[in-house]
Amino acid sequence: MKKKELVVSAIKNGTVIDHIPADKLFQVVRILDLDHNDSQTLFGTNLSSQKLGKKAIIKIQDKFFETNEINKIALVCPTATLTIIKDYEVVEKRAVTIPNEFEGIVKCFNPKCITNHEQVTPKFRVLDAHDIKLQCHYCQKITKEETISFL
Ligand code: CTP
Ligand code: ZN
Repeated sequence: MKKKELVVSAIKNGTVIDHIPADKLFQVVRILDLDHNDSQTLFGTNLSSQKLGKKAIIKIQDKFFETNEINKIALVCPTATLTIIKDYEVVEKRAVTIPNEFEGIVKCFNPKCITNHEQVTPKFRVLDAHDIKLQCHYCQKITKEETISFL
């Protein structure tokens, strides 16, 4: 077996977000609000990856993401994988997936949309998960990757 060294140290309990395209790292930090989190967190970026060329990785001690946070990661980095670590062992590994429908998370890009004027939580149907196209439940307008902004 080939000897393997971890570039970013192992964690005891928590979540590893792997296969983040290197240029998306700081966007992930922002949407998950990791600059306001008290958990011990390790970052690595510009690590070589066969699939992505250059990837980033985030390891967060004692953090287990909820669906809403996983959906955010998926919208920014559809290639990401989440690994759950318990007592230094990998107990679960899965790719993130973009849901067919979701609420909150993203702002409707239409300035006239009711969700931008009243206390109405945005709600979207995902028309295309690869070349992101999100249709607003209220105004029917389509928010695309270039116009996406997170709540
Ligand atoms: N990991 C960790 N702490 C541990 C165990 C694993 O941070 N106690 C990390 C590894 O660094 C790796 C991920 O969790 O980024 C998945 O671990 P593992 O399945 O052992 O690694 P690989 O086989 O290299 O996974 P992949 O093929 O998904 O890169
Ligand atoms: Zn709308």
